Amino acid sequence: MAKYDIVGMPGDGIGKTVYDEAVRVLDAVGFDAEYHHADIGWEFWVKEGNPLPDSTIELLEKYKIGLFGAITSKPKTEAAKELSPELQDKGLVYFSPIVKMRQLFNLDICIRPCRSFKGNPLNFIRKTADGGFEEPMVDTVIFRQNTEGLYSGVEWTNPPPNVFEAFKTHPKFAKYADEPVEEIAISSRIFTYKACERIIRAAFEHARKFGYKSVTVCEKPNVIRETSGMMLEIGKTMQKEFSDIQLWNTNIDAQMMWLTKNPETYGVIVAGNMFGDIVSDGFAGLVGGLGFACSANVGENCAVFEPTHGSAPKYENLDPSIVNPIAMILSACMMLDHINETEMADKIKNAVAVVIEEGKVKSYDMMKLTGGPDVIANGAATTQQITDEIIAKLQ
Ligand code: NAI
Ligand code: MG
Repeated sequence: MAKYDIVGMPGDGIGKTVYDEAVRVLDAVGFDAEYHHADIGWEFWVKEGNPLPDSTIELLEKYKIGLFGAITSKPKTEAAKELSPELQDKGLVYFSPIVKMRQLFNLDICIRPCRSFKGNPLNFIRKTADGGFEEPMVDTVIFRQNTEGLYSGVEWTNPPPNVFEAFKTHPKFAKYADEPVEEIAISSRIFTYKACERIIRAAFEHARKFGYKSVTVCEKPNVIRETSGMMLEIGKTMQKEFSDIQLWNTNIDAQMMWLTKNPETYGVIVAGNMFGDIVSDGFAGLVGGLGFACSANVGENCAVFEPTHGSAPKYENLDPSIVNPIAMILSACMMLDHINETEMADKIKNAVAVVIEEGKVKSYDMMKLTGGPDVIANGAATTQQITDEIIAKLQ
């Protein structure tokens, strides 16, 4: 029997490609696991009318750790048209299996590390006062609340009368009260104390475990007083338990400016769902973008690890494959760290760092080429060659 059971969800398109590469690296580093294949994504929407089949939910309930590639999703009307003929007209409505998985398993803490690798041609550089350039090393980990806030789905266009009446009880709503209700759209931003506290605690614990000196609450409490304010207040209270770590407070808009000026200043950043989404994409761009952006979705009982990128349909049929497997491989490292197999995680991260610094083997995105079949002829490595090189550097 293997030491670990992992639910393997390759998904669609390049999700399948990079998933296989991550498993190859995990095998090479000696990770003793049985991978339980689980269906997810477009294929299962089309065939079964359900992009997150019950069998997958059962596997996650049983084994509690998932490694996930990426899926394809499409807008509702397009999705309905692509359903197989026997499922048409059954009233099936497409939903995102990722959002559903996050909600079902309450994967409320999303962790997105954004770390520069020395020698990565995609690293952020900055002009110095004397006209030269410098390349600050970014090492920021974003903790994004994954289940609430503006993504809670509590929203209306033309809100029902009881909702409209309830809003009218708020003095600031007076200026909307005479608008035609059918011309009003409302998306609510709901924060709960419990979820805020969980993510802020996780952020502080991460800072302590990995030696970051600060946790920054990145919200907008001066304007969004109730929700952002709650987050900041909890941060202040929590900091008393973590007196070795500083609490900083930035507004999301200012933070987006600061990350283009002095990104190396920030350690751990914690934010609600929407702002966390924004700030993590911003930081990911400084360290190489989608080919490098890994993530973890961690709940109390279950965790799923995945690259931030999607299924990149443009490239799914290229043979050989050209996409960068590093985001997926780093996501697998996050899984290893999560189950305290840190030695194996460090070995893989070191191997990735060596391959990038040596710069002999580069994916098309690292060469700043436009993706397509010709990139290999222009010197880009294939997906498999990058993995091979990483495996060769494991020690
Ligand atoms: P995408 O992330 O799939 O691709 C956007 C572009 O980023 C690609 O065309 C490519 O230029 C680059 N890229 C992505 N991954 C790369 C990699 N590993 N190496 C090198 N370059 C890479 O996003 P897009 O095109 O907006 O969406 C495609 C499909 O993926 C859609 O159906 C979308 O709904 C889905 N999607 C799924 C996600 C998930 O499974 N978590 C996340 C984002 C999109
Ligand atoms: Mg993904």
